[in-house]
Amino acid sequence: MKAILKKTALFRYYVKLRQKLSIIKYFAYFCKKHAQYCMDTCCTCKGEEARLTAMYHVLEKGLTMPERRLGFGQPMVLQTIKQLQLVHKLNNGEYSDVCHHALAVLSEYYHLHQREHFPLESSIESALESILATANITSSAQIESSPEEYWRHLNADFAKFSASRHSVRNFGKTPVSMKQIQAAVELANNSPSACNRQPWKVYCVADNEKRAQLLQLQGGNRGFGQFADKALVITCDRSSFYALEGMSLYVNGGIYLMNLSYALHYNKVAHCILGMPCTAGSLRKIHKLIGIPDSESIIALMVCGTLAEHNFPLAISPRKNVEDSLVVI
Ligand SMILES: Cc1cc2nc3c(=O)[nH]c(=O)nc-3n(C[C@H](O)[C@H](O)[C@H](O)COP(=O)(O)O)c2cc1C
Repeated sequence: MKAILKKTALFRYYVKLRQKLSIIKYFAYFCKKHAQYCMDTCCTCKGEEARLTAMYHVLEKGLTMPERRLGFGQPMVLQTIKQLQLVHKLNNGEYSDVCHHALAVLSEYYHLHQREHFPLESSIESALESILATANITSSAQIESSPEEYWRHLNADFAKFSASRHSVRNFGKTPVSMKQIQAAVELANNSPSACNRQPWKVYCVADNEKRAQLLQLQGGNRGFGQFADKALVITCDRSSFYALEGMSLYVNGGIYLMNLSYALHYNKVAHCILGMPCTAGSLRKIHKLIGIPDSESIIALMVCGTLAEHNFPLAISPRKNVEDSLVVI
C-alpha cells in the first residue's frame, strides 16, 4: 500500500511541498537573526563601531581617489564626528581603537585642508577642531606607493605577499591582458569547495558600455571605477547546492573571491572588490545586462586594471588586533 502511495503524483507533490517548507524555515532562521542583530535594528557598541568604521572608510577612500577634489565628503565628516561621539558614549567615555582610527583620519582630512588653505564650511571646521582637541591624535597618512613598490613582494613568503595586497583605486591607461585574467582564474580554481562542487563562475566584462552600466548599478565605485579596464562578476550556481545549503553558496563564493583576489595580485592585476548591489531590482538588471542565468547568485564584483604609471595612494584600512579576532575556548 505504502509503495503504491509513493508512486502517486500527490505523494510527489507532498514531498516537494515539504522540501519547500524546510527551505523557507531555513532562510527564515537567517532572516530573523539578521533582522534581530543587524546594525540598522539593534544599537550595540560593536555595531556602532562597525558603522563608524564604514563612515571613516569613506573619508579614507576619498583621500586616495585618483581625481581628489578638496572639500570632498564634508557631510560625511559631520556624520563621522556624530558617530564617534555616540561610540565614545557607548564605550563609557573611552576612545576605543576604532575611535582612534576615525580620529586619525579626521585629523588627516583637517590638516590636508589647512595645508592647502582650502576653506571648509565653518560648521565643519569648528566641529573638526573641537573633536580633535579631545585627544592626543596622530594624523594618519594614507599609503604612498609606486608600481615597483606595489608588486615588490609577489614572490615573497605568504606573510609579505598577503600584506602587500591592497584594494587599488588608481588605475593606469594600459589595458590588463586576458592572459593575466585567465591565469588568475586558473589559480583561483585551486579554491576548496563543499564536496569539490566548484560552483563558481567569473564573468569578465571587457565591453566598455556594458562595464559602465554594470558599475553604475553597483554604485560603490564612484570616483575610480570609470578608470578600470575590466570588471569581473563572480557568481555561484544555486543548482550545485542541496535544499538546506542556501548559505553555503556564499561561503563557497567568498572563499573563491579571496583566492581570486590573491591570484589576480600574483598575476599583477590591480583590482578592488566591490560588493553586490543591495536592491533586487539592480541585481535583476545585472543578470540581464551580462546574461547571467537566473540560477546563479552574484557573490561580488571586481574592477581590474594595470597600476597607475606614477606614484599613487592606497587606503590604509587599519586592521583589528588578534585579541579582537581570536577567541580561545
Ligand atoms: C565584500 C566586499 C565589498 C566591497 N565593496 C567595496 C565597494 O563597493 N567600494 C570600494 O571602494 N571598496 C569595496 N571593498 C573594498 C574594501 O573597502 C577593502 O577591502 C577594505 O577596506 C580593506 O582594504 P584592502 O582591500 O586594501 O586590504 C569591498 C570589499 C569586500 C570584501
